[in-house]
Amino acid sequence: MSPITLGIESSCDETGIALYQMGRGLLSHALYTQVAMHNEYGGVVPELASRDHVRRITPLIRQVLREANVSSDQISAVAYTQGPGLGGALLVGASVANAFAFALDIPSIGIHHLEGHLLSPLLSDPAPEFPFVALLVSGGHTQLMRVDGVGQYTLLGETLDDAAGEAFDKSAKLLGLGYPGGPELAKLASKGRSGIYKLPRPMLHSGDLEFSFSGLKTAVLTLVRQSNNDDQTKADISFAVQEAIIDVLAQKALAALVQTGLNQLVVAGGVGANKLLREKLSRDIGKRGGKVFYPDLEFCTDNGAMIAFAGALRFAQQQDKKDYRFNVKPRWNLQEIVLQY
Ligand code: KG4
Ligand code: ZN
Repeated sequence: MSPITLGIESSCDETGIALYQMGRGLLSHALYTQVAMHNEYGGVVPELASRDHVRRITPLIRQVLREANVSSDQISAVAYTQGPGLGGALLVGASVANAFAFALDIPSIGIHHLEGHLLSPLLSDPAPEFPFVALLVSGGHTQLMRVDGVGQYTLLGETLDDAAGEAFDKSAKLLGLGYPGGPELAKLASKGRSGIYKLPRPMLHSGDLEFSFSGLKTAVLTLVRQSNNDDQTKADISFAVQEAIIDVLAQKALAALVQTGLNQLVVAGGVGANKLLREKLSRDIGKRGGKVFYPDLEFCTDNGAMIAFAGALRFAQQQDKKDYRFNVKPRWNLQEIVLQY
């Protein structure tokens, strides 16, 4: 029987658990989102997040085992998100993963959260083939990477300040919308009108692949202060925010394809769930003969499947490593893991 990997994701406000089997694919997965709990506070409260992971994690592991009809002694490795993320939240997943692996006498594998996102489009059908360019757009990161294989990642450009998801979230907060702001703002933007407001597109013509989004929130703040903020105005501002962010992301992604001479773009991370971004990328890149790949919507935002999958690929490379000493890495540059491979 080919190896089965249990994946545990607990880096932020989602507890994600999954079982992945090489050759067969995803056997089962489960997700508990804490969004409703944090919504009350307008953002993630780290201590509450950790405590909730503690409550959810073991029942979810039992659930995925039951649903896949797999017993714990059939598992070959346990993969968990080692970072980046919230320290306490990461510790919950890392502790459970290492205890579980120790009890079963199997390897535990720490996974970089962004590597999980980066490889998640490979779970879909059709999947991209190496090499490709990845646009990683999450709540904490905005990066363009060249991906030549598992563990072979070259940074092409990234944000100098706020991430794209952060720009969505902060703008949404200024507009008085709920948390997380991205999907809320996108929903309201669908009622907004084009051309009412024009927001800056920082670094659009910088000639490189860097991004900057912090000026956008200042511009939104000014607009919010100047306007009456009735429902239509808020929708119009949301429209302009979404349009500005998407414009920059799409143009830079296209520039990355031109620069590398590659023709496949993979979009990963929570902002990749944005419908308009998907449409614009597919249209603009399709026109130039390129192809865009997205993870299935449920695997765009944080989930256990991407961690189980990245763990399975890693397990295939280092079968016998059993070391249950662990640390978590709340801040962790993806470039560092390239050296480990
Ligand atoms: O990858 P992710 O789930 O968590 C991190 O690793 O950060 O990304 C979360 C981010 C949040 O900023 C959220 O507002 C944004 O993804 N997001 C969206 C949409 N869905 C999630 N942004 C725009 N449009 C969406 N539909
Ligand atoms: Zn994420």
